[in-house]
Amino acid sequence: MFTRIAATGHFLPAQVVTNDDLAARGLDTSDAWIRQRTGIERRRIAGGGETTASMAAAAGREALARAGLEPGAIDAVIVATTTPDRTFPATAVEVQAALGVPPGPAFDLQAVCSGFVYGLVVADSLIKTGAARRVLLIGADRFSALLDWTDRGTCVLFGDGAGAAVLEASDTPGLLAARLYADGRKTGLLYADGGPGSTGTVGKARMVGPELFREAVSSMAAVGQEVLDAAGAAADWVIPHQANIRIIEAVAQRLGIPMARVVTTVANHGNTSAASIPLALHAAAADGRVQRGQTLLLAAMGAGLTWGAAAVRF
Ligand code: UT7
Repeated sequence: MFTRIAATGHFLPAQVVTNDDLAARGLDTSDAWIRQRTGIERRRIAGGGETTASMAAAAGREALARAGLEPGAIDAVIVATTTPDRTFPATAVEVQAALGVPPGPAFDLQAVCSGFVYGLVVADSLIKTGAARRVLLIGADRFSALLDWTDRGTCVLFGDGAGAAVLEASDTPGLLAARLYADGRKTGLLYADGGPGSTGTVGKARMVGPELFREAVSSMAAVGQEVLDAAGAAADWVIPHQANIRIIEAVAQRLGIPMARVVTTVANHGNTSAASIPLALHAAAADGRVQRGQTLLLAAMGAGLTWGAAAVRF
């Protein structure tokens, strides 16, 4: 039995914030610097009423519609997020209620930017153990809430959004191979400087950019190759975490895969944390680039550090 992606969905906030908008607000930056160093041109920032749960629910609703399924067909809801609307309960139960998914497992998963790839493996496990036949997996983050808008080294990099996938048990492949990693010794490279158990605040994102850059390239390239080897497959498409176009280009080069076979959304979305891979997957599935039967390599890296990859027959 395999876990197959039945359909995808997405949600992006209405508000577009360009690089020039950030400079115009008095931040010591420029469109030229951000484009050259990151490839980011604009990002979406959540406004009134656009919360992590509402974005996640909208993405999930679209995935259900594209799968031709009613909410009653979903057995479990997983939301990968770092920015829950409330400290508890999980965003997933709000999404479950908003969509009308009947009682079943619903929980959040915290692996920051690697959350969607982690979630794929957890959903696959639920399906393989018989705990669920269909799982709604959503990556959703309102990362703008964690930004220090005076820190040009971090605030220009991120955006908000949500991406979703309906995963289901199938006789045909599916998820071919996956590997997950974390190394807590490297937590100081990217973290929030607060939380409910320590400061009692949410905290702001802090990053050691250049070192994180090197870690992102080496870890995503290595785990990507490991997963392709395990699957015994070549990737028709690479769908990497969207943090920086220079990271993506370096990973593609190490994997020997041309950029024409790499899906990038970083120019328009910035880094949307757990939403980044499902948003890119949805964009390429919706516009017909990614076709049924093709092999996709999803590769992620984020705070923790966490990283991982999955090879998927779409
Ligand atoms: O989602 C998790 C994964 N996230 C990542 O993997 C992020 C990885 N890191 C990066 O993408 C890059 O390191 C950054 C985009 C964060 C920074 O790019 P960089 O090429 O590594 O620049 P840098 O940090 O070495 O800074 C170079 C210069 C510095 O100025 P000085 O010291 O040379 O005078 C910075 O202060 O660029 C300056 N700088 C900026 N200038 C204008 C840093 N941020 C900005 C900015 N606008 N926004």
